[in-house]
Amino acid sequence: MRLITIEEYNDKTMQLARPIYDRHRRVLLAAGRTIHPKYLERLKQMDIKYLFVDDFISDGISMEELVDMPTWMDAVEVVQQAFEDAKVNKLLDIRAIQKLAFKLLDEVSKRKILIIIPSTSLASELQLYAHAVNVALLALQLGKKLMLNHLQMNDLAIGALLHDIGKAVKGEEHHTVKGFNYLRKNREISLLSAHVAYQHHEMFNGEGVPRQIHDQQIHQYAQICGIANRFENLLSKEGVPPHEAMEILMAKSDIDFSQQLVRLFINTIPSYPPGTTVTMSDGKEAIVTKIVDHMQRPHIRYLSTNEEVSLAERPNLLIVNISQEQSGSNG
Ligand SMILES: [Fe+2]
Ligand SMILES: [Fe+2]
Repeated sequence: MRLITIEEYNDKTMQLARPIYDRHRRVLLAAGRTIHPKYLERLKQMDIKYLFVDDFISDGISMEELVDMPTWMDAVEVVQQAFEDAKVNKLLDIRAIQKLAFKLLDEVSKRKILIIIPSTSLASELQLYAHAVNVALLALQLGKKLMLNHLQMNDLAIGALLHDIGKAVKGEEHHTVKGFNYLRKNREISLLSAHVAYQHHEMFNGEGVPRQIHDQQIHQYAQICGIANRFENLLSKEGVPPHEAMEILMAKSDIDFSQQLVRLFINTIPSYPPGTTVTMSDGKEAIVTKIVDHMQRPHIRYLSTNEEVSLAERPNLLIVNISQEQSGSNG
């Protein structure tokens, strides 16, 4: 299995590895199917940008690091319900949100690595909710690295899940302000979680919104959420591959984000997730098969020979670029 952009899809060589859902979260195309070209156009109109496929070159790649799809879809539904409650100024179903926070915390703590499903693998109507779930998962990975305790992780998870809820609230103010005011009305939501919504667009140098606070005036959870938020948007919305998104975050450290947190964050995310097709420093094409010990030194398999190599054991062999090779031609 591997993740491809919808433009890379080839109905002669690829089958769906994960279902495609419609905007009501119903299965539109099941795993194992191929996508008819006419259908592919429809998916593009739904703003679906990424697909998980099985094909010859990705044979045997299981992507165990990927968040489990039913769990992720359930999470999207809980966030959607929260946004719908906010839209009509109803109080949140705190029990559902709490349950989800526990579930995500469990997902993150039981795995060494967790790779997110791009929010743009869903229809446009669901992307904001999927974005929130991904931001929470990424934030929790950084929280884990910071060795936050259970209570802290819980507040961080809820804050990250609801960071953009102000977008659903009526009114003219910035969504950070609307979100904060709405969350404060929900007594069971901790004030720290509400501050994640309030401060996630503040910048380290004081040029953010809404209050231009800076450095450590920005609560650590909001700083974490800010980094996770930018990374998720780069990956899902802007189609930037992970290794480039990391470069962008590094370039923004001490400007938009704390350098210390960006460094830690980068250590929680693989630059080249399994299924990435790459060009190696010896000029040959390969595919990343798995991540074993080293986050940034995965195992790769040469497309021409099927030979598998651990980059952790071959320090001189480097990934020089990612390639968007069509399948079949190298087999
Ligand atoms: Fe936001
Ligand atoms: Fe966001």
